[in-house]
Amino acid sequence: MVSQKHLFELPEDIHYLNGAYMSPLMKAVQEAGIAGTKRKLSPWELTADDFFVPAETVKQKFGRLINAPAQQVAIIPSASYGLKSAISNIPANSGDHAIVVSNEFPSDYYTIQQWCKENSKELKIITAPDVLTGRGAAWNDRVLQTINTQTAAVVLSSVHWADGTKFNLQQIGEKCKAVNALFIVDGTQSVGALPIDIIAFKIDALVCAAYKWLMGPYSIGLAYYSENFNNGIPIEDSWMNKSNAHDFARLSSYVEDYKPGANRYNVGEFSNNILMPMLDKALDTVTQWGADAIQDYCVKLIGPLLHYLQENKYWIEAPAYRTNHLFGFLLPGTVDKAILLQELQRNKVFVSLRGDSIRVSPHVYNNESDIEALIQVLKNQHKL
Ligand SMILES: Cc1ncc(COP(=O)(O)O)c(C=O)c1O
Repeated sequence: MVSQKHLFELPEDIHYLNGAYMSPLMKAVQEAGIAGTKRKLSPWELTADDFFVPAETVKQKFGRLINAPAQQVAIIPSASYGLKSAISNIPANSGDHAIVVSNEFPSDYYTIQQWCKENSKELKIITAPDVLTGRGAAWNDRVLQTINTQTAAVVLSSVHWADGTKFNLQQIGEKCKAVNALFIVDGTQSVGALPIDIIAFKIDALVCAAYKWLMGPYSIGLAYYSENFNNGIPIEDSWMNKSNAHDFARLSSYVEDYKPGANRYNVGEFSNNILMPMLDKALDTVTQWGADAIQDYCVKLIGPLLHYLQENKYWIEAPAYRTNHLFGFLLPGTVDKAILLQELQRNKVFVSLRGDSIRVSPHVYNNESDIEALIQVLKNQHKL
């Protein structure tokens, strides 16, 4: 794959290595949104199908990306919403604790913490090992060793949002299945850019905000819920999720049942005429690129940066436990963090500080000059 920068509107002097914060919008996705806003200029043209069919198409596209049937996919407004639907339906009698890793993204942590509080369960927080060599492997091991027959659920981001540690979803999913624990994965920092397979990884729920690696707009996302959740209680009771929703003339012939699969978990007004066509367009492009090709592109791109970091005593995780689209590095004692951040800003190099890590998250809109600009700022620090 070659750089896809032409699909975006990124000024030449901006070095945006921060897709984990928010990916830039593609021009075509923006156009889909503009066309979407125009639809409400003439509401008489909106048909009953417009409330349902575009969402079905988006679900199918997302389903293909994660190897799930469209029927088990729901439209959500945020990761927190999607997590709440899964976590509030964990059976209360299924063990005495739940598991998260330390410094997990707050939407994940708060939701499972609340469930534990409401259900008098222990929340086991698996801390990152205090070592630099073999840290990712040891952290994964700690998670695996903590899962047992008393585990109700493991709630985990596939890639740690702050430092980029990659968790072995396959091993963790298998262990969860072996002990009958639910495996609830937050894919916000990976799905779209990293291959994922809910069947192979035995995932029970996979929740993704769309505004990062799915390249979509803000305030919409997608979630997969396994059949274990098909009789659960949704957050809302939108008319749109009920079995008679298509029959506009008879909506007040109230019914008990929902549309099949995960449809009960769709957010109300999910047909969103603006965000839905944008997400649809974004998914087309993400699918066309392919997660493997995105990783290949990024690994080539970051090669010189990794080389520089390793040569100059910065810490970076071993390749098996990090991804190429999102990783953190730690500074050597000789580099002043505050000055470095100032210099990055002055040179328009956009990365994030998360905890102690400098988080770098490139994508196919980046090119060598972006990585070179980052390396140059780091080099200048050593000269100070
Ligand atoms: C792992 C992870 N999950 C979810 C989100 C977004 O959560 P929400 O949609 O609840 O705002 C982020 C944002 O940075 C994230 O890093």
